[in-house]
Amino acid sequence: MDHRPWTMDHEAQRSIKATDMNKKIAIIGGGNLGAAMAEGLIKSGFIQPEHLIVTKRNTHTLQHLKEQGALVSNNNVEAVQYADWILLAVKPFQLKEVLSQVLPYLQPEKHVLVSVVTGAWVNDIREVVGDTIPIFRAMPNTAIAIQESMTCIYASATTDEQVLYVTALFNQLGKSVFIEEKLMDAATVLGACGTAFAMRYIRANIQGGIEIGFSAATASLIAAQTVKGAAELLLQKNTHPEQEIDKVTTPKGCTIAGLNEMEHQGFSSSLIRGVVTSYKKIVNDM
Ligand SMILES: NC(=O)c1ccc[n+]([C@@H]2O[C@H](COP(=O)([O-])OP(=O)(O)OC[C@H]3O[C@@H](n4cnc5c(N)ncnc54)[C@H](OP(=O)(O)O)[C@@H]3O)[C@@H](O)[C@H]2O)c1
Repeated sequence: MDHRPWTMDHEAQRSIKATDMNKKIAIIGGGNLGAAMAEGLIKSGFIQPEHLIVTKRNTHTLQHLKEQGALVSNNNVEAVQYADWILLAVKPFQLKEVLSQVLPYLQPEKHVLVSVVTGAWVNDIREVVGDTIPIFRAMPNTAIAIQESMTCIYASATTDEQVLYVTALFNQLGKSVFIEEKLMDAATVLGACGTAFAMRYIRANIQGGIEIGFSAATASLIAAQTVKGAAELLLQKNTHPEQEIDKVTTPKGCTIAGLNEMEHQGFSSSLIRGVVTSYKKIVNDM
């Protein structure tokens, strides 16, 4: 098992072989996540639509993908036979059945599996498909719908070329990082549940904003764009949050007064405890 805790720079992305860009992708389970990935991959130009096949049992919800030129099907075997890369995006309880169904058609020298199924460990997948198929496990979040996901990835029995390809794929859909598989539950909490945590923070700001005079619509815009800008400052300048806070906090000013009051009320502590509680829940219950 190889662990690769690194992100890929643009230089490395450019080194992906042109032939890789002609690889065909099957998305098994074109639900919320599967369809969003398909949209993002088409929109970004990462794949030609006709090189993408998306399956689900009831395909009428995939009409928009069909109109963009992607293939849609209710036949997983057909999709596996068509594609090189197989993205598994069904619900956890559906995974084993789907894997067993396509198992006779999986070829280790051709296929690579990428599972985004929450809680499905590589060994769970290997129990069905065996040891020879390269497998990636990935944990994206719902911002994948607008190509702004944070995706944590783990690689098992994969080549460097496959790592480059899967990194490029998820970088079309946001940002990605390789992690050890034992951190996947933590990645689920910080990256996927984290979207809900951030939303609740923004909602609280909107509520406060309305109380100090803004309409709901204006408060929503200000709160969301301010959080987006704060996040971009960290991502683009690679600074620590406290460095950026220092720039806003004038001595005896209103920012530090507000921040300190939030901390007296347990702001950071409640967030940390929320993250840890989610983690304990995922580890103990799932
Ligand atoms: N949503 C997220 O933010 C998120 C983030 C990280 C990971 N995940 C994981 O991603 C997976 C998908 O989540 P989701 O929110 O997209 O769920 P979802 O909307 O329910 O999508 C699952 C899809 O699988 C299809 N399906 C079921 N059985 C199938 C079969 N035998 N063959 C082909 N397709 C089949 C279903 O459509 P039919 O009923 O028409 O077949 C459904 O559209 C889950 O395992 C989840 O844990 C989700």
